[in-house]
Amino acid sequence: MNVTHISEILGAEVEGIDCRDVSDDDVAVLQTLLWDRGMLSIPDQDLTPDSQLAFAEKWGAINVNRFFTPVAENPQVAEVLKDPDQELNIGGGWHTDHSYDEIPAMGSMLYALEIPETGGDTLFASTYAAYSNLSEGFRQALSSMHAVHSSRHVFGYERDAGDRPRKRLHNPELAVQDAVHPVVIEHPGSGRPSLYVNPSFTVRFDGWSKAESDSLLAYLYRFGSRPEHTIRYRWKPGTLVIWDNRATWHYALNDYPGQRRLMHRVTVEGVPLAGIN
Ligand code: SIN
Repeated sequence: MNVTHISEILGAEVEGIDCRDVSDDDVAVLQTLLWDRGMLSIPDQDLTPDSQLAFAEKWGAINVNRFFTPVAENPQVAEVLKDPDQELNIGGGWHTDHSYDEIPAMGSMLYALEIPETGGDTLFASTYAAYSNLSEGFRQALSSMHAVHSSRHVFGYERDAGDRPRKRLHNPELAVQDAVHPVVIEHPGSGRPSLYVNPSFTVRFDGWSKAESDSLLAYLYRFGSRPEHTIRYRWKPGTLVIWDNRATWHYALNDYPGQRRLMHRVTVEGVPLAGIN
C-alpha cells in the first residue's frame, strides 16, 4: 500500500490495493488512515455494486439511505446520478451526511463510473482543522454546546416548494427525525476534537432560537470552508473515495450542465457521538 497525502491537513491517496481482495489487517490500516486524514482516494478499482458492497461490509454494517434511488443490481447501493437535462445535483452544498440521525453514519464510499469532461469535482473540508484553528476561548465556549440537526428541509415535504429533484429522492414522509449532537465531538476513532455542525442539516443550537443561532453558525461555516481547510478533488472513473462524516464536510460541485455524472454510493453505519471533556 502506497500512501500520499493530498494536503497538509486532509486527504490521502492510497495506491497498490484492490478493494475486491483486502484482508482485515488492510481494512484496519485504512480505517486508522481515514480517522486521521478524513478522506481516502483509492484509484484504479474495478467494482460492481456487489463487490463495492462486500468491501464496505468489511468496515461495518451498511446504512441504506432512505431518500436515495438504489441501483438496479443491489438495493443497498445508492445511485448518485446527474443526467444532462437535470438541474440540481445530490450533495450540492457543504454537508455532513446523516447528521440528522441519532447515530450518524460513519461515512460513505463513492465509486466513480462516469465523470464529466470538465467539472463535477467534490470539495472536502477538515472539521478537525476548522475546530483547531479557532481561538482557545471560542473553542471552549463551543465545547459545552449542542446543536439540533434535521433532514426535514432537505429531504422532506418542507423542500417541495422549490425544484426538488423528486425524480431521484424518495420517501419524504420519512424525513421527520431530528437529532441533537455536541457541537464539538471527540472523534470515536482518533480521539481528536472535531467541529460537528454543518450548513445543510444543522438548524440551530440546542436551547437557542434559530435567529440567535444563525449568525454564529454562519460564522462557523465561513470559517470551516476557508480554502486552507479544504481540498478540491478531481475524479477519474474507477476511483473509490471514502470519507469520514465525523472529520469532514463535503460539497459536490454542480458545474457541468448538459453532461452526465454517475457514481455508486455505499454508506457505513457509525456509533453514538460524544462531546469532548
Ligand atoms: C454526496 O454528497 O453524497 C455526493 C458527493 C458527490 O457526488 O461528489
